[in-house]
Amino acid sequence: MPDQQLDLNDYKRRIVDLYNRRSINYDHGKWRLQICHRLLEYSQISYQQHILDIGTGTGHLAIASAEIVGVGGRVVGVDISPQMLDVARSKVKALSLSNVELQLADAEAINYPANSFDRILCANTFPWIEDKQAALRTWYKFLKPGGLIAIHTPANTAYVGQVVLRSVLKRYGIKLDHSNRIGSIESCKQLFVNAGFEGIDIKTEQYGSYVSFDSVKAKWEELISFSFHSKSEEILSQLALIPLAEAKAKFEMELETLQTKKGIWDDLTTLYILGHKAEINKPV
Ligand SMILES: C[S@@+](CC[C@H](N)C(=O)[O-])C[C@H]1O[C@@H](n2cnc3c(N)ncnc32)[C@H](O)[C@@H]1O
Repeated sequence: MPDQQLDLNDYKRRIVDLYNRRSINYDHGKWRLQICHRLLEYSQISYQQHILDIGTGTGHLAIASAEIVGVGGRVVGVDISPQMLDVARSKVKALSLSNVELQLADAEAINYPANSFDRILCANTFPWIEDKQAALRTWYKFLKPGGLIAIHTPANTAYVGQVVLRSVLKRYGIKLDHSNRIGSIESCKQLFVNAGFEGIDIKTEQYGSYVSFDSVKAKWEELISFSFHSKSEEILSQLALIPLAEAKAKFEMELETLQTKKGIWDDLTTLYILGHKAEINKPV
């Protein structure tokens, strides 16, 4: 299917800009690859299955899935960043994979026939999804009865720099919505139940480590510019008004309070959420 011009709001255009820029060196990071392989393990993909990879990026999961499902299977990877998809496409071409289709599309506005996919996968992308409940309901329809959705997302407590930044911004009356995180385990489960999924299994893994004060301090610029990817126009205008030098000093002071002999604990609680569509197709 040829790529369509996407009709995106400002929030999504900011995401596209971010990932178009990141596409150049996105594959240098090994961390995300590790996440993809874990998700793949949990999703138990098998030969000839049909897979939908949401926010496929440079195609890690799509390609790994395509190798498992074989020529009798099919993988569709969707992403809103044309340049991330360009990287994915060149990898698919280099591997001569004929069972992968990469589509430029907003995962919140996709439309496939009901009951099309055995697995729906989503790694390192769910935090960006604007209306998570609506998206899950839509994706549920695409899943075949008995199919499985497997979503990876960092927990609210993950990344100390982001946690401290949120705490500092709160003091200026700015409430970042957990960087679009998924909430507590219980609210996360509810989100999936409300969308129709059953047998929800949330696996929690900790990939955290101690990091140096200086390394987190050095992330200030990146973190603050990341906040400007908020989906709320109100938050964006509030952010534009805060005294940045003062906020930065508060950020460093709060980080100092977290110092231990080993460094600062950089939590990386990671959730793998698995949900099933019942064998008998019932309306949501
Ligand atoms: C951190 S990357 C993850 C890429 C890949 N899944 C991985 O784990 O390596 C996030 C990707 O989600 C995409 N994305 C964000 N929001 C999206 C949306 N609404 N629809 C489709 N893709 C989206 C971004 O363009 C980006 O390529």
